[in-house]
Amino acid sequence: MAKIEHQLRSPKPLIEHYRQYLPLTEKTVAVSLGEGFTPLVAAPRLAQHIGLEQCDLRLKLEGLNPTGSFKDRGMTLAISKAIEAGSRAVVCASTGNTSASAAAYSAKAGIKCYVILPAGKVALGKLAQAILYGSKVIQIDGNFDQALDLVRDVGENFPVTIVNSINPFRLEGQKTATFEVIDWLGQSPDFLCIPVGNAGNISAYFRGFKQWHESGKTSKIPRMCGFQAEGAAPIVRDCIVENPETLATAIRIGNPASWKEARHAIDQSGGQIDMVSDAEILEAYNLLARLEGVFCEPASAASVAGLAKMAARGAVQKGATIVCVLTGNGLKDPDCALKHSRVDLKPVEPRLEKLIDCMGLKESL
Ligand code: F0G
Repeated sequence: MAKIEHQLRSPKPLIEHYRQYLPLTEKTVAVSLGEGFTPLVAAPRLAQHIGLEQCDLRLKLEGLNPTGSFKDRGMTLAISKAIEAGSRAVVCASTGNTSASAAAYSAKAGIKCYVILPAGKVALGKLAQAILYGSKVIQIDGNFDQALDLVRDVGENFPVTIVNSINPFRLEGQKTATFEVIDWLGQSPDFLCIPVGNAGNISAYFRGFKQWHESGKTSKIPRMCGFQAEGAAPIVRDCIVENPETLATAIRIGNPASWKEARHAIDQSGGQIDMVSDAEILEAYNLLARLEGVFCEPASAASVAGLAKMAARGAVQKGATIVCVLTGNGLKDPDCALKHSRVDLKPVEPRLEKLIDCMGLKESL
C-alpha cells in the first residue's frame, strides 16, 4: 500500500511535505511549481543488458520535474528563502539547468533573475527556457568555472542572492530526493549512482541519506558512486581541469564548488568516484532510451555508464538494489540525440511500395 500512496502527487509543495527535515520557518512561503515526487522506475531490461539481471535496478526520473531537472528541488527552497529574506534579485552561473530552474522560480516569485552562461556550451532547450521565463541571460566567452567566479564577486558586492549550490538552501532542497527514494523502497538502496559536475547533488544525496539514517528511518547509507566525464574529471584526477571538455555539457566543469563535501560523501559511504568517456555516455544514453523508454540528458546517462563499468569489473554484488539518478530530461538537448543517431531521415516518395521497402517489411515478415 505504501508504495502506491507515494506514486500519487503530494497535495503540498515538496518543501512543505518534508518541512521537518528542512530549514523552513513559520515565515517561509513555498514558491512551488509542483516539483519533486518523481518516479523510481524498475529497469530490468537495462539491468540484464549490463549483466545485473540478479539486481534490482531503479531509475530516479528527475527529468520529470517542472523545468526538466533535479535543480527544481533546490531552487524551490533557495527562492522561497530568498523571498523570506527580502531579496528582489537572484543570480547564477550555469551549464543550463540551474539557469532554467532559477529563471522559472524567479518568474513564479516575481523577482529579477540574472543567469551567466558559457557561450555556445548550453543545450538549446535550456537556453530557450531561461529566455522564455524572462531572466536576463548573459553569455560569457569562458567556461562554467569562470562564470561561477564572477557570480561570487557579484554576490559579494551587490544585493543579489546567489542561487548556485554555494547557496546553502540549494543542497538542503535537493536532499529531498533521498527521502523519496527511501519512502518508495522502504529503505535505502545498496548503491546510488549519480553524475557529478559541480558536485552539489552527490553531496546533497549523502546529506539526505545520513539524516534519515540518523533519525532511524533507514538502516543503512548507500555506497555513493559518482561519475564524471573523462574530459571533466577533476575529482577523479585530483586536480583542477583548466579546460574541461565533454559532450555532456551539463557536467562540463573543471573545479567543482562542492569538491570537498563530495569527497567526504564518497569516502564515508564506502563509495567511489570514476570517470566515463563520451562514447560510454552515449552508449548508456541510447540504451536507456531503447531498452527502458527513458530519454534523459547525456550528462544523466553518466550514472548508467558508470554503473555498467562497475558491473563489468564485478563490483556489484548479486541481489543489490541500485538507484541511478537520471538528473535531466533528454528533450532539453534534442541536438545530441539527432547528431549521434545513425538514422536516415531522408524523405521518401509517398507510395506504398516505397514505404514497404523502407519499413523492410518484405524481408522481416
Ligand atoms: N546532471 C545534470 C543534467 C546537470 O545539469 C548537472 C549540473 C549535473 C548532472 C551535475 O550535478 O553539479 O550537482 O554535480 N548542472 C549544473 C547547472 C552545473 O548549472 O545546471 P552537480
